[in-house]
Amino acid sequence: MPIFGKADKNRTIPGKKSTAGKSSADFARLPRHVAIIMDGNGRWAKRHKLAIAKGHRQGTENLREIIRHTDDLGIPALSLYAFSTENWSRPREEVEALMQLILDFFASEIDELDAKNVRILILGDKSRLPEAQRLTLIEAEERTSGNTGLRLNIAINYGGRDEIARASREIAKKVARGELLPEAITEQTVADHLYTAGQPDVDLLIRTSGEKRLSNFLLFQVAYAEFTFPKALWPDFSVKLYDEALTDFGARDRRFGGR
Ligand code: IPE
Ligand code: IPE
Ligand code: MG
Repeated sequence: MPIFGKADKNRTIPGKKSTAGKSSADFARLPRHVAIIMDGNGRWAKRHKLAIAKGHRQGTENLREIIRHTDDLGIPALSLYAFSTENWSRPREEVEALMQLILDFFASEIDELDAKNVRILILGDKSRLPEAQRLTLIEAEERTSGNTGLRLNIAINYGGRDEIARASREIAKKVARGELLPEAITEQTVADHLYTAGQPDVDLLIRTSGEKRLSNFLLFQVAYAEFTFPKALWPDFSVKLYDEALTDFGARDRRFGGR
């Protein structure tokens, strides 16, 4: 089933109520960038006495609703942690199931995402991925590169430390070529060399399943993010729970070190 309705490049005004019809929440203030660590698929599968792969598949069903809702709300950027640099250490069958899900997800969703003016960016090193996945991801990025709507960042073979090391190498190359003075390197220079260059910092980080850790996600970008750790396992994370996290965010007193 397509995740989005018919082609509609019009967007809602940021901060407006959802037009999805499912949300009755009234948001005082919405984040400009939401990051989600989609955790708990394994426990969900176990709880339902299903194979791990089924848990991951159920997690992609859920994903559609969350992306659609983010877009309906007019939140400018959404980053999803789909596969970490550490997840390669999982059993081979599980890694294969996750790789297959990447292909299935893009095959079923790319048309609607593109029609919705969503711009897809893959965070992470695509060069280590199998060829089919790599080509699918590059194609999705290229096809949507001119879109101006929701920035949908999907982290695959992503690690925050790896991203910072990569940015450091890029900056060092510029210094070596004489294009940049070491004294001229600022926080902004670093930000400009991350995968998320040009995007707002993360305002709200959600990690499902009750775990309270970053697991190497967007280390630089979450410096002043608000964190929330809903207990729900990712496949059970509903639009209603998402709205609760967004409402909670709107009530936070963000100080950024000031008085
Ligand atoms: C998150 O679910 C999905 C990925 C890491 C790809 P998990 O598979 O980590 O679920 P739990 O933590 O084992 O429940
Ligand atoms: C983080 O979850 C990675 C993703 C959700 C893709 P993990 O389940 O891999 O993290 P740890 O191992 O519990 O820290
Ligand atoms: Mg996990």
